[in-house]
Amino acid sequence: MSIPISGFSKKSKQEKIDWLVSHYFDNDPTVYKTLQLYWNSDKELQRLHDDFTENAISNYYLPFSIAPNFLINDSLYALPMVIEESSVVAAASNAAKFWMKRGGFKAEVLGTLKSGQVHFDYYGSRNALQKYFIDSKPGLLASVESLQRNMKKRGGGLKDIVLVDKTEELPGYYQLHCTFETADAMGANFINSCLENIATTFENAAMDSEYFADDDKRPEVVLSILSNYVPDCLVEASVKCRIDELMKTKEDSVKFAGDFVRAVEIASVDKQRAVTHNKGIMNGVDAVVLASGNDFRAVEAGVHAYAARTGRYSSLTSAKTDGEFFHFGIKIPLALGTVGGLTRLHPMVKLALQLLKQPSAEDLMKIAAVAGLAQNFAAIRSLVTTGIQKGHMKMHLMNILNQLNATSAEKAETIRHFQSETASHSAVSAFLEQLRS
Ligand code: MEV
Repeated sequence: MSIPISGFSKKSKQEKIDWLVSHYFDNDPTVYKTLQLYWNSDKELQRLHDDFTENAISNYYLPFSIAPNFLINDSLYALPMVIEESSVVAAASNAAKFWMKRGGFKAEVLGTLKSGQVHFDYYGSRNALQKYFIDSKPGLLASVESLQRNMKKRGGGLKDIVLVDKTEELPGYYQLHCTFETADAMGANFINSCLENIATTFENAAMDSEYFADDDKRPEVVLSILSNYVPDCLVEASVKCRIDELMKTKEDSVKFAGDFVRAVEIASVDKQRAVTHNKGIMNGVDAVVLASGNDFRAVEAGVHAYAARTGRYSSLTSAKTDGEFFHFGIKIPLALGTVGGLTRLHPMVKLALQLLKQPSAEDLMKIAAVAGLAQNFAAIRSLVTTGIQKGHMKMHLMNILNQLNATSAEKAETIRHFQSETASHSAVSAFLEQLRS
């Protein structure tokens, strides 16, 4: 029976599992077996993973795959991709190979600025607040000096603080909008620590300030936190080739280029399509973000807000033909880090970064943007030619066969059969039944 529990986090790992199995799994012994199957036999390594979060009772594997042949700014990369969706790595690899033969991907970082806000309430004179802010700003900047000593050495730090009046949107609401450079770190902890120091200094100094005579008319901090909206931490990636290089014949190439550009235009104007189109982009971006130990939730939140920045949710990529040429590009905000966080802790993350030639944060931004562009190219290419299911189901076939407990011989026979047929769950099931009879 499910019952509430207090002090769960204080229990040992074994006690947690015992409690779980008895209250949620009717004492099913196979649950112990499944959880243990995913424990690492290296006790130190297992402890490392247990320490990542509270109440960890096992590990949850995702495939760590490689997509080779990515030519980015004339350097060749093999991308580490962590993703469970069967066709994503194959699609990325195909797109990489296609563009490697056509000059590769170009990528450029357009900005690396991040921000955080001290959100506060204030109901007094706007003029008094403005004067108080100007007077207190040097103290606010000084309040983060000890925090940013190392960050400054690496070229980062707090860049500016601006007072923003938000009272038209919400009565009494103001903010201190702070901008930061965080060098090769994603910088969430650095930014949040700075913001909390700024908030305390701002609020405390207001107590003794001549500008605020009334107790109830002083600034009062509500909360301080970084923003995952990072429109100024932006990277651009693109590909370009002659239209007649797109397909085998000139006629097919022209048709393909036209359909491709139209597909991207549809994703620019229609939000139903744009969301799925961008989801395909994030298949590539998230896989690299996860492999490199970065926070994919932060990236997702920031990317989709950026996609809606004009008030209409739209495509992150754009495509055009111009004379004899086909152009395809992406602009995407990506706040990523290659130091701090999991980067020195998780052995697979260390390995992924080594594979990427120990990239700077800017290098990783370029690589992740290219992974997104490649994924989008592969998806649209399938969508406007064969349809998505042919390639997708081919890659998904092994999952279906595993679900149906196929033997090695049955797998080989079924794969051979579906080389020329579009696979579906029912078609594979029927074929297996026929084989078995
Ligand atoms: C599936 O994970 C992603 C696609 O739906 C993307 C798209 O439609 O562009 C294939």
